[in-house]
Amino acid sequence: MEKIAETKYPVQEVIRRRWSARSFDSAAIPAAVAEQLIEAASWASSSMNEQPWLYIYAHRESDNFKKFVEALLPGNQVWAQHAAVLMISLVKTNFDNGNVNRHAMHDVGAANQNLMLEATSAGIVGHILGGFDMAKTKELFEIPQGYEPVVFIALGYPGDISTLPEPFQSRETAPRKRKPLNEVGIKL
Ligand SMILES: Cc1cc2nc3c(=O)[nH]c(=O)nc-3n(C[C@H](O)[C@H](O)[C@H](O)COP(=O)(O)O)c2cc1C
Repeated sequence: MEKIAETKYPVQEVIRRRWSARSFDSAAIPAAVAEQLIEAASWASSSMNEQPWLYIYAHRESDNFKKFVEALLPGNQVWAQHAAVLMISLVKTNFDNGNVNRHAMHDVGAANQNLMLEATSAGIVGHILGGFDMAKTKELFEIPQGYEPVVFIALGYPGDISTLPEPFQSRETAPRKRKPLNEVGIKL
């Protein structure tokens, strides 16, 4: 299934084709492809070239995968447990001199978007998840000092939506919506 964005202008196809899917095929994502996605993330720009991002991830076949599922909120667990790879995107909040990096979250978001667009180019669908248990995540993964979990990311090859329970199946087929352009960009 695809959910290509209907755009007024000729926006790049990879941007139009990225969408937040919930149905995943049973096929594994090869280790090298997962690394390719991380590499794409690493080429985002960042304030002072600090690169304040870190990804921890597991393939479905790994014993560690269960921990990623456990840390998600129940509504996300239902379908994200079938992803081929689950990742946690972390942010390094401070520079090494102790000063707060005010742009760290911006940079992590940019890296995550690079990752999602690279995934789309590779025929992989992904879904960013803010619905996770922060305390459980910190405990299960012994998050290093100075880092904070930002989002989980579920990735896999597109699957059969008929296997999704409701209400997720309906959400999967619901049209994608965006604010009108005049509410997004204001020309002065
Ligand atoms: C930071 C962030 C957190 C999100 N958290 C969740 C989540 O917990 N569960 C979920 O089903 N979708 C989640 N989403 C997906 C959004 O609902 C989705 O991106 C939005 O509806 C737009 O749809 P599209 O990505 O298909 O264009 C999240 C997206 C982002 C960027």
